[in-house]
Amino acid sequence: MRGALIAIEGLDRTGKTTQTERLLVKLKELNIKHKLVKFPKRDTQIGNLINTYLTEKSFQLSDQAAHLLFSANRWEIIDEIKKELQGGTVVILDRYVYSGVAYSAAKGLDFQWCLNPDVGLPKPDLTVFLQFKQSENASRTGFGDERYEVAEFQEKVKLLFENFSTNSEWSPLYVDGLTIDQVHEEIWSLFKQYLEGLDEDLQVF
Ligand code: TYD
Repeated sequence: MRGALIAIEGLDRTGKTTQTERLLVKLKELNIKHKLVKFPKRDTQIGNLINTYLTEKSFQLSDQAAHLLFSANRWEIIDEIKKELQGGTVVILDRYVYSGVAYSAAKGLDFQWCLNPDVGLPKPDLTVFLQFKQSENASRTGFGDERYEVAEFQEKVKLLFENFSTNSEWSPLYVDGLTIDQVHEEIWSLFKQYLEGLDEDLQVF
């Protein structure tokens, strides 16, 4: 039996990081072998470049070059992830291919072009997608307002994520009005069926 590959994806401010941490605490309590990989993984050479790109405005890259770095960052660690899965460890991914495609396509790059460098990477067995039912920027007005622009970008990212909603492993979870505990319980109810391990091979993108 191999371990399950589980991705947690989500829009900004949906509590993705908090929920991932809650999940880790629970797995630890239950003594289940697990590993968290957060993308971008910033502590590799490629990850260092991505970190500089994300944090220093003076480090300029074309959108295409940045996109390929994010993808390369997944490829550089995928053998390690596969090894963990083969050893029966549950691997949790905090962001993955879906973020890679949605964020770059939201900048205007072609969707299929964005997916191409990730073709061949393993598909998660389950992807929990945290999102808002209500449009985040519904109450915001004023073009030219920087926060509005950010919200507008988020809205584009959300629409692009929805391209993945027909994938069989995709599980959307609306967090509007739910407490941290309630969201955790919802995630756990999706998650727990994967804890025993799986017989079937991983699918690929
Ligand atoms: P992350 O470190 O998850 O930051 P946060 O927890 O603040 O969301 O991701 C940093 C940014 O990188 C985030 O805006 C999403 C983006 N991103 C991409 O553009 N492409 C990718 O492939 C990934 C994994 C993230």
